[in-house]
Amino acid sequence: MIDLKPSSSNGFVWLVGAGPGAADLITVRGLKLLQDAEAVVYDELVNRALLDNCPAKCELHAVGKRAGSHSASQGEINDLLVSLAKAGRRVVRLKGGDPMVFGRAGEEIEALRAAGLPFAIVPGVTAATASGAVAELPLTHRDYSSAVIFITGHQCAANTSALDWGALAKLRATLCFYMGVRRLPEIARNLLGHGMSADMPLAVVSEATLPTQLVLIGTLRDAEKLSAGLAGQPALVVIGEVVRLSSFATDLPQLHAQAITR
Ligand SMILES: C[S@@+](CC[C@H](N)C(=O)[O-])C[C@H]1O[C@@H](n2cnc3c(N)ncnc32)[C@H](O)[C@@H]1O
Repeated sequence: MIDLKPSSSNGFVWLVGAGPGAADLITVRGLKLLQDAEAVVYDELVNRALLDNCPAKCELHAVGKRAGSHSASQGEINDLLVSLAKAGRRVVRLKGGDPMVFGRAGEEIEALRAAGLPFAIVPGVTAATASGAVAELPLTHRDYSSAVIFITGHQCAANTSALDWGALAKLRATLCFYMGVRRLPEIARNLLGHGMSADMPLAVVSEATLPTQLVLIGTLRDAEKLSAGLAGQPALVVIGEVVRLSSFATDLPQLHAQAITR
C-alpha cells in the first residue's frame, strides 16, 4: 500500500502517469494523489480535466510546450520540483502516458536524488498500449510478433540514426515509434533499405483515447501519404504484421482466416 502522506519535513514528489488522453485512464492511485496534492507540475499532453480533481488550494504549474509560447527547460522543471519539495509540499509531477517511457523521468529522478528528496513513481497507460487498444490490434501475438520495441522518432533521421535498422527490420517484432509521424518517410526508407517488405503494414494512431482519435492504416509504401495526413497531433506509429489483425485493416491482405476470426 502506498503511503499518501509520508512523514518528512521535506515534501514528497510523485511522478504520476496521467495516461494517454482520456481523463478516466489515470490509475486510482494517481487520482488519489491528485486529490491530495499541494502542488501539481503538469505537461502539455496531460488532459486538463484531471486538474479538476486537485484541491482548491493546490498550486498548478504548467511546464509543457504550447504553440507559440516558451516551455520550461528540463533544468527549470527539475529546479521547480526540488524547490516545491524543499518547501514541504506534496507534489504531483503529472506526465502524459507513463512517466518512465520517453518522459524524462530519469532526469527528474536524478535531480531529486541529488537533492536528497523522497519520491515515488506511479505508472500510467503509455501511448503504445493505448494505441493498440483503440486500433484493436494486439502488440504481441504468438504467431506473428514476440517482441514490442518502443523507439523515439527523434533518433530516426536517415543519416544520423544510431539505431540498428538491420536488427529492427529482421526481428519478428512490433515497432512502436513515439514522436515518429514527421519522420515516417525516413523510418520507412531505413526499414526498406534493410530488407523489410514494402507490404509490411503500419498503423498511425493519433490522439488515442480522445474523442478526436484517428486510426490510419497502410503499408510501408504509404509512409509519405500517412505522414502528410496529420498535422501536429500526438500520434504513434506501429509497424508490424500484427497491424493486419486490426479491425480497421480492412484493405490489407489478411494473414490467415483463423487469426482474424472473432
Ligand atoms: C514525449 S512522448 C511521451 C510519451 C508518454 N510518456 C507515454 O508513455 O505515452 C510524446 C509522444 O507520445 C505519443 N503520444 C502521446 N499521447 C498519445 C496519444 N493519445 N495517441 C497517440 N500517441 C500519443 C506521441 O508519439 C507523442 O509525440
